[in-house]
Amino acid sequence: MYANTALSVGTRPSATTDLALYKDIASHWPSGVAVITAVGCDGKLHGLTMSAVITLSLVPMQFLISVDRRSVTLPVIKDLGRFCINFLTSSQEGIAMQLASKSGDKLNSVRHRISQWGLPIIDGALASITCDVHSILPGGDHEIIIGDVLDMEHAGGEPLVYFKRSFHSVSAI
Ligand SMILES: Cc1cc2nc3c(=O)[nH]c(=O)nc-3n(C[C@H](O)[C@H](O)[C@H](O)COP(=O)(O)O)c2cc1C
Repeated sequence: MYANTALSVGTRPSATTDLALYKDIASHWPSGVAVITAVGCDGKLHGLTMSAVITLSLVPMQFLISVDRRSVTLPVIKDLGRFCINFLTSSQEGIAMQLASKSGDKLNSVRHRISQWGLPIIDGALASITCDVHSILPGGDHEIIIGDVLDMEHAGGEPLVYFKRSFHSVSAI
């Protein structure tokens, strides 16, 4: 909080009364769709659908992901210290829905391979980026994870886009 007295005092939005407006505004910000994967120390595969992915830094090459504190995958990423970002293509909406669920073995029914870094890479993904966790910051009800790029693959294709609470292809917008 800044102590600049030139700042006017207004009425701040409240999460109690203004959350619907916040969500509505957020829904009008288009984003790509990724699936983040990780592996538990018991060998179990985990993953979740994510739109909060940012290309953070060029030198060093870093990505930022923002994970809900309630996510089952979050502690797995933190324990492992590594995660893989899979950018989905416009034909992979079904995978996005599947990985947004809470089903325990949700990655088992999605075609994938295990990379040399030990993480699931989703077949047909537009790109897959393996990261080592660099740092973790608090982000309200989310945790912000910054990852150093360890490996990258780029198969190409048309990205899956999330906009106004539904999935789109770039050409259809
Ligand atoms: C399009 C879309 C984008 C999402 N983006 C995020 C996100 O950025 N961060 C997040 O924590 N959850 C996000 N979710 C929700 C998670 O995918 C969902 O809560 C999932 O069930 C978490 O799985 P887990 O508990 O197995 O980790 C998104 C879901 C959808 C459909």
